[in-house]
Amino acid sequence: MSDISKEPYKGVRDFFPEDMYIQQWIFNGMRDVVEKYGYVEYSASILEPASLYRDKSSEEIVNEQMYTFRDRGDREVALRPEMTPTVARMVAAEHKKRSFPLRWYSIPNVFRYERPQRGRMREHWQLNVDLFGVNSLFADVEVITIAHDLLSSFGLNTDQFEIRISDRGLLNTYLSSLELNDEQTTQLIRLIDKRRKIEADKFETGLNEICGEKSRDLLSLFEATSVAEIRDSLPQTDEVKEKIDRLEDVISKLKEGGIENITFDPSLVRGFDYYTGIVFEVFDTSEENNRSLFGGGRYDRLLETFGEEHIPAIGFGMGDVTLRDVLETYDLLPEYESPADLYICVVSENVLEHAHTVAQQLREKDVRVVLELAGRAVGTQIKDADTSGIPYIICVGEDEAQSGEYTLKELESGEETTGDIEAIADIILGE
Ligand code: HAM
Repeated sequence: MSDISKEPYKGVRDFFPEDMYIQQWIFNGMRDVVEKYGYVEYSASILEPASLYRDKSSEEIVNEQMYTFRDRGDREVALRPEMTPTVARMVAAEHKKRSFPLRWYSIPNVFRYERPQRGRMREHWQLNVDLFGVNSLFADVEVITIAHDLLSSFGLNTDQFEIRISDRGLLNTYLSSLELNDEQTTQLIRLIDKRRKIEADKFETGLNEICGEKSRDLLSLFEATSVAEIRDSLPQTDEVKEKIDRLEDVISKLKEGGIENITFDPSLVRGFDYYTGIVFEVFDTSEENNRSLFGGGRYDRLLETFGEEHIPAIGFGMGDVTLRDVLETYDLLPEYESPADLYICVVSENVLEHAHTVAQQLREKDVRVVLELAGRAVGTQIKDADTSGIPYIICVGEDEAQSGEYTLKELESGEETTGDIEAIADIILGE
């Protein structure tokens, strides 16, 4: 007996054909939506130098979650934990050759050493949608509209999810007015990021420990539900005023565009150092699955860190794990279907060669055919075709082999038609 485990490595998934079917359905749905907005696909290697993520990602990801190893040339290599540093690197490398704006998307596999739990794995696939080179608030509106469109196109209605939005710069400004040291600020941001995941009194105690009396002001700030409510609590600088006006504008433009399920959330952090402006996160509103689905934001300074000129950027990352969970919760995932159109059932071993020729002739006409090779009972073959979701079947026996005429049965309706290969192909292909 072998003691090699049949389980995959902890926190990663095997994709059996039924899982691949769902995954491809999800990816195709993502592609359909983003391409409607003119986004084009790019890709890159899973491997990156680990140094790419230092100062360009989040401290938590770099120090606690990144998979790294030393290659044979003693270089430190990472399995990418996210796509943003990679795409920023690619855009910075080519920006002189390309005309902006760039609308790029990709669906990479990314890896993070996290504690596996519902919605959190050590690997996931993540749709990344990013728009480079546009400062206008219409870029923010476009990207958030795509996020909304994606969930709607998968069948979710607007009561089932909500978009929370804020501006990372506003929170930063507020936090710097608290005069905390760097360590306290880092701790505080981490705690705020957990606000929705931990109990209210635990959050309050944590706040108290970090910023004492000022925690009361912070708590009341977090209660605000409109941008107007926080206006007076912030330092009255031109920068703050500009950010507040922009945030209000973005929210109202989205609402005018029919996106009503958007709310202001001043405690929205998004744990990456590179966000500079608007940040947003999409939440499932159900009791059962009330959690963040995906998020993103504006990162106007990241490309400068490659020593290149200022290129503003905004985008988001949408993971397949949380998306699949929410679609499952609302019963919106499709039933598995085999890609084949036709199952050729072989009645006896001595007609197998003939059946093989028929299968090949049909494939030449672009019919996707599964041929029985295992000599199983006819009933078993038909059942197999049916459970695999193959829509048509023909049975090949002595009579069919002699006449060259086959009876095509549509399994769902039970309807039968007899004809030669040409006629059968025409029916299946709807010609
Ligand atoms: P993020 O919030 O770290 O952002 O990840 C984006 C999404 O990926 C999450 O909201 C979630 O759907 C999914 N995700 C993240 N970690 C896991 C995990 N361990 N298991 C399953 N799913 C996960 C970013 O990565 C940014 N780079 C997104 C971005 C693109 N910002 C601008 N452009």
